[in-house]
Amino acid sequence: MDPYLRVDDLRVSFSTTDGVVRAVDGVSFSVERGRTLGVVGESGSGKSVTSLAVLGLHDPRRATVTGEITLGGRQLVGRTEAELRRLRGQDMAMIFQDPLSALHPYYPVGRQVAEAYRVHHPRAGRAETRRRVVEMLDRVGIPQPERRYDQYPHEFSGGMRQRAMIAMALVNDPDLLIADEPTTALDVTVQAQILDLLADLQAEFGTAIVLITHDLGVVSQVADEVLVMYAGRAVEQGSVERVLRRPQHPYTWGLLSSVPSLHGDADADLNPIPGNPPSLIDVPAGCAFHPRCRYVGHTGGRCRTELPELRPAGTAGHRLACHLSGEERSRCYAEDVARVGVAQ
Ligand SMILES: Nc1ncnc2c1ncn2[C@@H]1O[C@H](COP(=O)(O)OP(=O)(O)OP(=O)(O)O)[C@@H](O)[C@H]1O
Ligand code: SF4
Ligand SMILES: [Mg+2]
Repeated sequence: MDPYLRVDDLRVSFSTTDGVVRAVDGVSFSVERGRTLGVVGESGSGKSVTSLAVLGLHDPRRATVTGEITLGGRQLVGRTEAELRRLRGQDMAMIFQDPLSALHPYYPVGRQVAEAYRVHHPRAGRAETRRRVVEMLDRVGIPQPERRYDQYPHEFSGGMRQRAMIAMALVNDPDLLIADEPTTALDVTVQAQILDLLADLQAEFGTAIVLITHDLGVVSQVADEVLVMYAGRAVEQGSVERVLRRPQHPYTWGLLSSVPSLHGDADADLNPIPGNPPSLIDVPAGCAFHPRCRYVGHTGGRCRTELPELRPAGTAGHRLACHLSGEERSRCYAEDVARVGVAQ
């Protein structure tokens, strides 16, 4: 099956007074209908910038976007704003990291969802639109949707606002849904309900989903494929089965060792990766992860000078960008597991 979304060698940079921010630097991935890609990585790794580029939401005066983005066979990079607007909503939609950025404070919530519906159904009458919106509010678990329709965003709790934004994103049955940290701000129960809702909608409509999250537990529950980003690049990608259960990249090991509960050992110590991700104006030479990598000394200096290319890692579809040989990786991984008890 042809993937519904295909992204090839995506690059996004911003010119700022401090220099050029290379926020996304050659990322490729694809998502089929009915499948979910989880995108993970620490703060500032380029996850949101990647998703905004897919939707064509970067201001062309501030951002330079190159590469190929193909949605249902159509190339998106270089399209006019008017053309992209026609695709947004119906063909692709986004749940933003911050619900308040998507909801206008001065208008009732139902009216805002109705506006989103009318963009793609200009001939829909008032009654039909209201019916559709109430149905959507109900669908995303907003109680008393008729009454809630006329309330303002400040009258909604954080979880309810998140649901309203999901209703807005889904009101036109988009074929691709990008959800940027859709549950991070929510408590565990609401988080589980929202994830169930996305899974139900996906099963019903065959939606392709890109799920961006810090939470590897969520990824392991709902994603089929994973893309691990560091400093604007993909460092490891492949099926959930391979990347989370048999991770190959030292950065992925680090991420996994920060979430012991994923491996059923809630009492294990958390082992955060030492240091911080780099500024994307001044990315370290060689492997961008090298100042934080425990295994930098194993490659005779290559890590500090030579950028590791993303290449196949043994099994179909599993790729990684690291200079360690397969044998060294196995040894280092065993060492890592012994040290912090990650994986299996
Ligand atoms: N409009 C912009 N102008 C300049 N730099 C930007 C702009 N938008 C994002 N950046 C920079 O691009 C980098 C990647 O940002 P991005 O928002 O994609 O990170 P993220 O992975 O989504 O992080 P988080 O997990 O915190 O949401 C950051 O260094 C950020 O400061
Ligand atoms: S290339 Fe070197 S620094 Fe980068 S992850 Fe691999 S071992 Fe670590
Ligand atoms: Mg983000």
